[in-house]
Amino acid sequence: MATIQNPYLVGPHELMRTDVTTSDEKVVRIAVTELMAVLRMISFGCATVCTLLAVVSKFLEKVPRARVVASKVLTRLSEMPERIRRGSEEDKATKYWGDLKTYHLSNDDDPIAIKRSEWVANEVLPLVPATSLLEIGCNSGRNLFYVQRAHPSMRLRGIDVNVDAINFARSSKAGIEFLVSDANKWSEPPNSWDCALTMSVLDHIPTESTKELAASLATSCRAVLSVELWDGEPGERALYKYSTDSKSIYESVGFHTKLWCPVPRELQYDEAKSTLWVYLGSRA
Ligand SMILES: C[S@@+](CC[C@H](N)C(=O)[O-])C[C@H]1O[C@@H](n2cnc3c(N)ncnc32)[C@H](O)[C@@H]1O
Repeated sequence: MATIQNPYLVGPHELMRTDVTTSDEKVVRIAVTELMAVLRMISFGCATVCTLLAVVSKFLEKVPRARVVASKVLTRLSEMPERIRRGSEEDKATKYWGDLKTYHLSNDDDPIAIKRSEWVANEVLPLVPATSLLEIGCNSGRNLFYVQRAHPSMRLRGIDVNVDAINFARSSKAGIEFLVSDANKWSEPPNSWDCALTMSVLDHIPTESTKELAASLATSCRAVLSVELWDGEPGERALYKYSTDSKSIYESVGFHTKLWCPVPRELQYDEAKSTLWVYLGSRA
């Protein structure tokens, strides 16, 4: 058996040898030496990371564009868990509306709904110059029918996630294009439409998804006209029903507000529960 004389000259591999013996004290010394070496490496690593961060932050201070990009990347990363959770709520809300079988059959006969459509067509839409209008969540196509009546030469299209509603709209409203499409996955080339219309649609889409839809609208539409529920605070109010601050959402993506107020009392659904507000904004 050999005995190790100087514990500082041996490494851990020496301790594994079975043909050498070391006293307990030597083993402890060796262990402490090894530990110190590891701690030195860790502190060197931390110092390197800190120096790197300092250099990056100096760089970001000098290059404003890089700072904006970096902050966007960090925001996106911090939103990740929320986006994963919301993804399923968005899908469930869309499936709920897509699966309704008879809702569209009563949508054209409600006298207050008809008056609301006429008000949008005759009084609100003329406030922006528009030769084309896209309605998102058009259901039976009632709004577009009254817009067509007031503005016969306007190019009109309605999209909705509900196949039965779109088939009904196609069979009952001539001269208007109707397509099955999910607003959460929709996008079109820049400036495709003069105006986009939503009525009681954003208030059925989770708010975070509405923000993404608004961003798409801000590139493809010059103006937006939204008639949606707003009770003064954003949030979920019932199953797939949300109080939506259309003004803040649209302004955050670049629209300038032309109109933001409750719709006339005689056109409300049920003011005791929540209030319908109208938003009109344009990018010009
Ligand atoms: C309360 S209804 C309003 C219909 C119509 N805008 C009106 O004023 O009568 C909501 C409509 O939004 C549609 N919708 C809900 N989520 C949608 C989505 N993700 N994409 C497209 N349409 C959607 C529903 O299918 C339904 O037709």
